[in-house]
Amino acid sequence: MSETADDLREAVRRRYAESALAVTVGGRCGSGSCCVVAESAFGEALYDAEQRGELPEAAMLASLGCGNPTAVAELHEGETVLDLGSGGGIDVILSARRVGPTGTAYGLDMTDEMLALAQESAREAGVTNVHFLKGLIEAIPLPARSVDVVISNCVINLSTDKAAVLAEIARVLKPGGRVGVSDVVAEDRLTSAERAERGSHVGCIAGALSREEYVAGLTAAGLEEVSVEFTHEVADGMHGAIVKAVKPATALPLRQPAAARAGCC
Ligand SMILES: C[S@@+](CC[C@H](N)C(=O)[O-])C[C@H]1O[C@@H](n2cnc3c(N)ncnc32)[C@H](O)[C@@H]1O
Repeated sequence: MSETADDLREAVRRRYAESALAVTVGGRCGSGSCCVVAESAFGEALYDAEQRGELPEAAMLASLGCGNPTAVAELHEGETVLDLGSGGGIDVILSARRVGPTGTAYGLDMTDEMLALAQESAREAGVTNVHFLKGLIEAIPLPARSVDVVISNCVINLSTDKAAVLAEIARVLKPGGRVGVSDVVAEDRLTSAERAERGSHVGCIAGALSREEYVAGLTAAGLEEVSVEFTHEVADGMHGAIVKAVKPATALPLRQPAAARAGCC
């Protein structure tokens, strides 16, 4: 990986570590400096009253997503769910409740401070079918074909190697498994430079894929029934979006080289 990509990832890690520490003293990440473009478009406002009632205060305050993936993923009892970039743990706790004691919810994050916050919130929420893993979404520390559903909330845009993330999603999903992701996505008309004019990388704007790039990347990774639905505008031509896909039920060979060849992303 180039030095620039390493630097960018370290800037992301530092920013979200600061955000986690701010929550532990009762604050939250400053507007515009994390994934918080507008209070109504990011974070806890995207969860309904019933879901908020299921969550500890710290998990709510730490919420930095741009959607509500547990609402779109239609989780079932007994399923194994993986949340990429689980942050303060909000979607892991909600998932753990949906899949019940026979299911498992994994949260994966690279930031120690976020992992500590999430573990504390899960303990406070009384959910025991959760596991928080330290690692990168570009190299998921789980075996192939071990997960029913991959969710993520405003994280893939932060990755410096999105082709690797999409290939890893395809690898860990069981045949027939599905993707229900919330992310910031750009309209196809916007160049990378135009996306960067609208916001920073750590603020979840500059690194966003376009809709076409997302569809091409997921397809190249071997996933099917790919859709990207814009839900709310977060900047001119940039949207909170629901991204869905399914791994074919018949196990095809992994297509990581094809994703890389497609130049995603
Ligand atoms: C915008 S926050 C979203 C957190 C959470 N999904 C939510 O909805 O509140 C991004 C999170 O992703 C994590 N993250 C960013 N890039 C990552 C990467 N490449 N690998 C693992 N975690 C990453 C950060 O540490 C941070 O906790």
